[in-house]
Amino acid sequence: MNESRPESMSSFWMPFTNNRDFKANPRLLVSAEGMYYKDVDGNTVLDGTAGLWCVPCGHAQPKIVAAVREMVGQLDFAPTFQMGHPAAFDLAEKLMDYTGRRFGHVFYTNSGSEAVDTALKMALAYHRARGEAGRTRLIGRERGYHGVGFGGISVGGIGGNRRTFGPLLPGVDHLPHTHNLEKNAYSRAEPEHGANLADELERIVALHDASTIAAVIVEPVAGSTGVLIPPKGYLKRLRELCTKHGILLIFDEVITGFGRLTTPFAFDYFGVEPDMVTCAKGLTNGMVPMGAVFTKQHIHDAFMDGPAGIELFHGYTYSGHPLACAAALATLEVFEEQKILDNAKGVQEYWTDAVHSLKGLPHVIDIRTIGLVAGIELAPIDGKPGARAFSAFKKAFADGVLIRTTGDIIALSPPLVLEKKHIDELFGKLATILKNLD
Ligand SMILES: Cc1ncc(COP(=O)(O)O)c(C=O)c1O
Repeated sequence: MNESRPESMSSFWMPFTNNRDFKANPRLLVSAEGMYYKDVDGNTVLDGTAGLWCVPCGHAQPKIVAAVREMVGQLDFAPTFQMGHPAAFDLAEKLMDYTGRRFGHVFYTNSGSEAVDTALKMALAYHRARGEAGRTRLIGRERGYHGVGFGGISVGGIGGNRRTFGPLLPGVDHLPHTHNLEKNAYSRAEPEHGANLADELERIVALHDASTIAAVIVEPVAGSTGVLIPPKGYLKRLRELCTKHGILLIFDEVITGFGRLTTPFAFDYFGVEPDMVTCAKGLTNGMVPMGAVFTKQHIHDAFMDGPAGIELFHGYTYSGHPLACAAALATLEVFEEQKILDNAKGVQEYWTDAVHSLKGLPHVIDIRTIGLVAGIELAPIDGKPGARAFSAFKKAFADGVLIRTTGDIIALSPPLVLEKKHIDELFGKLATILKNLD
């Protein structure tokens, strides 16, 4: 593989990137192992973000690499429309076991965005199959991120991701976000204030009538918008209200699934069960693109009790791709054999203390933590929102640490195999950067 600088960088239109700025000063990664990347100049870069929340078991995990290598030589591709291959079925059983059999069925996609759009479509089709075709409204939340499909940006609540793409899906409404610096700054785990914001669903129901609402979708912990942790009792209240009004509750666990909060899923952590879960990223340890929707038995039953024939007119050419299935099966084995969740639990307190030790450094206005996630919010530079944190991101990369920023918030989500020495390295460097930031 090419480990040197590309001859030209002009043709690749990069996603979610300031292309002109990047191409003037590129940051190029050429290899990865365990907790570290190596860049094109041979520097090591500590991965404080698991890539993009993708790599719970660490990079180039040998068992997962071997499983993918073996599968590519055995079965490079197989369709799953009116056909199948054993690994797709084996994986589905293992995934349902991993949820403690609280979910009955899994539908494969290739990304988080596709998982979200699949779940939204399933919600509409589910109500129709049960004779409630009038339930077509979808409710998201301000500051939510649900990928970039038209469904996902419609229920999503990040202005910049929506405003240039026209009217989006009709019949969508949004709950208010729960971020409240005045009351909840410097919280560890769930903040105290804001459970009552779930009651805003009653206002939406009063406005539109429950008989028109299909589903509510939320991230249990909002990641891309800058680590917004649900207030104590909020998700439980949302569950109660959805049940009361016959509305499906979808948890978008694309970042929280597979151990991010030290439990298999966020629904385990919060003790609140949605009707559907979307996941991706950690599902294959980031090695092969794959997403999935887990559904409760009653959702699946509604389709299987319907007329004979194809039950759901939906799917992707690469749904259940053999390489993705091999990677996911191996990832689940690694979670068990390497006790990934135990490691995450073991370092969590040390991690939390280290993040909160940044309190009081210049520009820091909030720190929030849950599981192995941290959000560090900086005061913006007047008239230049996002510039301060982005400058921290560039300096960190130059100093050999990969962090992620969204607006003026630094979001950290390391591989779950990290050790105390990595935490020391990460926060040692970050503290120096923050002390010297304009
Ligand atoms: C909560 C959530 N949903 C959906 C997505 C979209 O996933 P993808 O980029 O794989 O389409 C993301 C990506 O970060 C996410 O965080």
